[in-house]
Amino acid sequence: MTQPLVEIQNLRVEFPSSSGGYNQAVRGVSMSLGREKLGIVGESGSGKSVTGRALMRLLPEAARVKADKLVFDGVNVLSASERTMRGLRGGRIGLILQDPKYSLNPVMTIGAQIAEAWRAHNKGGKKEALEAALNLLEQVRIRDPRRVLDSYPHEVSGGMGQRVMIAMMLAPNPDMLIADEPTSALDASVQAEILRLIDDLVSARGMGLMLISHDLPLVARFCDRVAVMYAGQVMETLPAQDLHHAEHAYTRGLLDCMPHLSEKRARLPVLNRDPKWLEPRS
Ligand SMILES: Nc1ncnc2c1ncn2[C@@H]1O[C@H](COP(=O)(O)OP(=O)(O)OP(=O)(O)O)[C@@H](O)[C@H]1O
Ligand SMILES: [Mg+2]
Repeated sequence: MTQPLVEIQNLRVEFPSSSGGYNQAVRGVSMSLGREKLGIVGESGSGKSVTGRALMRLLPEAARVKADKLVFDGVNVLSASERTMRGLRGGRIGLILQDPKYSLNPVMTIGAQIAEAWRAHNKGGKKEALEAALNLLEQVRIRDPRRVLDSYPHEVSGGMGQRVMIAMMLAPNPDMLIADEPTSALDASVQAEILRLIDDLVSARGMGLMLISHDLPLVARFCDRVAVMYAGQVMETLPAQDLHHAEHAYTRGLLDCMPHLSEKRARLPVLNRDPKWLEPRS
């Protein structure tokens, strides 16, 4: 087998707590990712985002990060220089977040921003960069790319803003995307379109994808494999198509807590947490 893009072994992340000690946010997570689609699910606070951010070394300085292995394509993220990390972030690894508003510059046209992202990682002048930006807007299936090129972020809809964000992340031609709840702020029909777009781009470009979401049915449909997180640990990793038949009680609990359209229930069940799930896993 060729070497995976990402190897994480026994990742631990702690944040200083108000009482002077440390809170453990990630407690011994191991996972690997090839050029495939890996979903990370789990309830709020289970450590999904912190795991993704640790890989990009995007955590606040106060965070303590330890791991037996935290490697992106041969680069040791624990010891790499800041310069190497800048090359990874927004270069070889693209990060798509829930709300593009926080990542786009409000006072710069969309075209100028994508062109800038392109020039940071490609050789070429302003004209080539704008052409590349136009081409990227076409790739993310924006209908009127020339108009959008000259628009400011507040002039486009949420779904279009997310497409712009994706175009910007694609500009450096990354090997991997981390999408952290990329569609949670969008309505259902736009959500499906954006996911289809990400899916097509990931397959066509042979990238690896880490899709962080608390939407289990969506991840089951969309990903190849799924890691299920609880309280900073991976409870189980399984093929996405098996998610609906998962046996782990926590995964079952999460599935049972998802509302179904086809089914009328007076109320959703509450997840009963087994204290054993908190014990360190081998
Ligand atoms: N900057 C921070 N400072 C202190 N604690 C943090 C920080 N970021 C995250 N945490 C804590 O780490 C734990 C894991 O957080 P994380 O954001 O990874 O959860 P998550 O699984 O992404 O949840 P959600 O589904 O709500 O996004 C939480 O207890 C959270 O409070
Ligand atoms: Mg999160």
